[in-house]
Amino acid sequence: MTISLKLRAWIREARSLTVLTGAGISAESGIPTFRGKEGLWKTLRPEELANVEAFLKNPELVWEWYRFRREIVAKAVPNPGHAALAQLEACASDFTLVTQNVDGLHRRAGSRHVIELHGNILDDVCLHCGKKSTEASGGAGPVPRCACGGPLRPGVVWFGEALPAGAFEKAAEASARAELFLSVGTSAVVYPAASLPLVAREAGAYVVEINPERTELSSAVDETLIGKAGEILPALLAERRAAIPTA
Ligand code: OAD
Repeated sequence: MTISLKLRAWIREARSLTVLTGAGISAESGIPTFRGKEGLWKTLRPEELANVEAFLKNPELVWEWYRFRREIVAKAVPNPGHAALAQLEACASDFTLVTQNVDGLHRRAGSRHVIELHGNILDDVCLHCGKKSTEASGGAGPVPRCACGGPLRPGVVWFGEALPAGAFEKAAEASARAELFLSVGTSAVVYPAASLPLVAREAGAYVVEINPERTELSSAVDETLIGKAGEILPALLAERRAAIPTA
């Protein structure tokens, strides 16, 4: 993989960096993506599993699906792509990581400031009182219950739901002030997250996409680096580190 001279200059010099990640960054940790070649939505129907109507209709089925995914997440470990982003954060004074992922792998890799736009799969939220608890999958029965008696649901954002309060606003602000914006491992079709690279470009950032395939975003960015996040991000980190003066 070659890094263009332009990108080399941006990665070395950008004072403000914002990164948007999607399911593709966790693919190399063994967590399946939703779209793309082997995406989950090829064989499963999001309308039966990922919205509140589906949950009200068949909470057992929805819990079965989330427990299955929690098991995959629990066994997964961060990969070199996650690690490179955590280390990149340490080399930049203004760095924001925005993720659509619910797997918590960025924090486990050491990223400190992470905006989780779609929540976290290990959280539970009571459908009645709204109280949040952490992984009550221990909770007995096919549908775990809150202390108030209400059914618990996974603490993720489903289709048609609002994002966590303030999360998108913070992400949009960071995108608008970024000098360099990286869109990593996302098919860039789910809004409002998919608008962030466009917000950044509109405000003058150099926008780079990292993905093994071209996406709907490709024609709107400055560069698409075709390849895996776990290979490209460590190379960008090395470039950034090479620009840090040694004492
Ligand atoms: P998608 O599954 O839509 O897209 C994943 C992207 O990652 C695809 O474009 C793949 O080509 C790419 N990819 C695969 N392997 C990769 C690798 N090793 N390195 C880099 N990229 C790779 O995932 P998202 O865009 O995150 O929403 O999906 C957005 C939202 O749709 C998700 O947050 C979820 C889903 O329905 C909710 O759960 C609300």
